[in-house]
Amino acid sequence: MSIEIPSGLTELLQGYTVEVLRQRPPDLLEFAVQYFTRLREKKLQDGAGRPHTRGVNFDSEQPMQIESNGEENNDDDEEDDDSDFEPPVINRYSRRVSVCAEAFNPDEEDDDTEPRIVHPKTDEQRCRLQESCKDILIFKNLDQEQLSQVLDAMFERRVQPQEHVIDQGDDGDNFYVIERGQYDIFVSRDGQSCCVGAYNNHGSFGELALMYNTPRAATIVATSEGALWGLDRVTFRRIILKNNAKKRKRFEAFVESVPVLKSLELSERMKIVDVIGEKIYKDGDRIIEQGDKAESFFIVESGEVKIMMKSKTKTAQEGNQEVELTRCTRGQYFGELALVTNKPRAASAYAVDDVKCLVMDVQAFERLLGPCKDIMKRNITHYEEQLVALFGSSMDLRDPGK
Ligand code: CMP
Ligand code: CMP
Repeated sequence: MSIEIPSGLTELLQGYTVEVLRQRPPDLLEFAVQYFTRLREKKLQDGAGRPHTRGVNFDSEQPMQIESNGEENNDDDEEDDDSDFEPPVINRYSRRVSVCAEAFNPDEEDDDTEPRIVHPKTDEQRCRLQESCKDILIFKNLDQEQLSQVLDAMFERRVQPQEHVIDQGDDGDNFYVIERGQYDIFVSRDGQSCCVGAYNNHGSFGELALMYNTPRAATIVATSEGALWGLDRVTFRRIILKNNAKKRKRFEAFVESVPVLKSLELSERMKIVDVIGEKIYKDGDRIIEQGDKAESFFIVESGEVKIMMKSKTKTAQEGNQEVELTRCTRGQYFGELALVTNKPRAASAYAVDDVKCLVMDVQAFERLLGPCKDIMKRNITHYEEQLVALFGSSMDLRDPGK
């Protein structure tokens, strides 16, 4: 049996869908009533009754195309005279009824018939976007198709010094990847706002409110002119959350077995899985370099990592030689020292054969690993003892700059 789709139906629904994606109304039915009522009024006003089934853009801040089932919706061939169309008053920031860690049902959100958001980009923009996204941890486990849908949906946003990109307590609209610029992170507790960290020219933020459907957990303020790439909430949830459900299944048992994470609650360990990325290294690859500024923390998932140090206390002849301190295998961690002491990397780390590591950025480390820091701090004494045994003189790792 074949069913004939009435002419104009697809465009009508597509117009409505575009506005839902733009406005993110809390009540879809109420929004539909208002949207279609206004559409009818507009059609009547137009007098001639020109079919207005393509809908209207309520805000034209970002040019956007919606693709459905891979087919591009080319708007160029139709005149767009909707600029005088008044949007229904719907507060896109009205508080979502939020709970702590919203359950995610990948099957429910995995709807391939949902329209896809595409922000067209020049080759030059695409290059910059790819460069900015290449080290973003929550993109690491995406397959090619998912990554290309994410990149298609991202849009550019320029910011000025002192601009608030995100305000704590707001509803989450976008996730952001930093192309350039500095951004301070403020967290307000008991009415006191504290700067808890900063992003310097790379990294990403704004994932928490979208992942857990909670209000924004921090305020992000640009402290320089900057450029960001935004990813809308709908695409983020469709792709990243689906992938996180897979990641939880894949890494849950391993993360449970990592000794340093034992002091965390199960829900905290799952939050770690949500934000980590898996990185793969080949034999001999340098994973971290002594003296570098630290930005990540590592847990070895498979293979072996060799920790090597150039000692300042060696003779001039031996000075440039790296000495092996230790090796880390599955379940062991490294790269925590510089994050705990806020100092440059104390040693270098190299892959021995093929290595897989779970990697966490410094902001997630600060946010999620507080309870593990005591264990890490205690371990610094062991490192220092190890260095005395190897180099014959003491070294203060808490201040390696000396
Ligand atoms: P989200 O809550 O969506 O918006 C604010 C973002 O700030 C948050 O996601 C994180 O990406 C980022 N962030 C960085 N450091 C912190 C922190 N210590 N606490 C909460 N959020 C943080
Ligand atoms: P970080 O200083 O961030 O980077 C180098 C890492 O080597 C360091 O963190 C530790 O995780 C690891 N490491 C292992 N043994 C030692 C040691 N004896 N001294 C310093 N770092 C060590």
